[in-house]
Amino acid sequence: MKIEVAKSAGFCFGVNRAVTLVEDLLRQGKKVCTLGPIIHNPQTLAHLEKLGARIVEEPEQVPPGSTLVVRSHGVSRSVEEQIARLPIECADATCPFVEKIHRIVAEQGQAGRIVLIAGNPEHPEVQGILGHCTGTAFVFPTAKELEKGIERWQFSQNSAVSVVAQTTFSVAEWRNCLEILKKVYTNAKIFDTICNATASRQSEAESLACTCDAMIVLGGRQSSNTAKLYEVCSRHTQTIFAQSAAEIPRELFAGVHHLGITAGASTPASIIKEVLVTMAEINEGVHSPETAESGDNF
Ligand code: F3S
Repeated sequence: MKIEVAKSAGFCFGVNRAVTLVEDLLRQGKKVCTLGPIIHNPQTLAHLEKLGARIVEEPEQVPPGSTLVVRSHGVSRSVEEQIARLPIECADATCPFVEKIHRIVAEQGQAGRIVLIAGNPEHPEVQGILGHCTGTAFVFPTAKELEKGIERWQFSQNSAVSVVAQTTFSVAEWRNCLEILKKVYTNAKIFDTICNATASRQSEAESLACTCDAMIVLGGRQSSNTAKLYEVCSRHTQTIFAQSAAEIPRELFAGVHHLGITAGASTPASIIKEVLVTMAEINEGVHSPETAESGDNF
């Protein structure tokens, strides 16, 4: 069995920066709280908890003298102000690509434009973006919901509309949304704010899935970018979603000759490595030494 790992699999720049920040603060002996889980990966969270990090839901829960880390998703302006009023230190790990969206929506709102956000309204990143909007703003999660929204909102065709996307929004769905928006609104400004790391991870996963008999998508169950990778890959081949090597059903790999592996932005390299070791063991069990092929990425 040939095993191929997507080059873009695993930690993105923003998640890596946030996790490293927490580790550095803990190493300096600080008492660290994170506003929500810093990463959608249970193993990394358990590791940080062992080092002393605590998760809080509200800034008020942070004990005085502690350092509160804002995760890469960012927070709304009102939460930023709430933190600034407390007797705590704040270490901001908001990803610069998310900060850029905060700036865009604030400026577009100030210029009197209606802001439309392509994204999951429940996702903390989208809630943070909404919380930086300075005028009218709406969120739509899919092209279908956008169509329904357009009927409901009833803006005139030449309304000044500015559109941004959650950084991990599906590239294919974004294209569908743009087609609709361009047809309906004659005065639309489009800001393609999908993160490059997300876009290239999705397109690499898709190309790999097209050439493989099976794919493994690694990542946390709460991770929206991992869920999108799963959706993209399962369109082309049988795909397994797993948080760790222990969740991989071994029997499924009989008859698989080319296996692809990708991982969401919050999956540490150690998990990818662990899965590679497990797959090597399965490979030895499934294929006899005479017939086994060796994967070029393994
Ligand atoms: Fe930032 Fe892109 Fe990661 S927006 S947090 S580098 S997926």
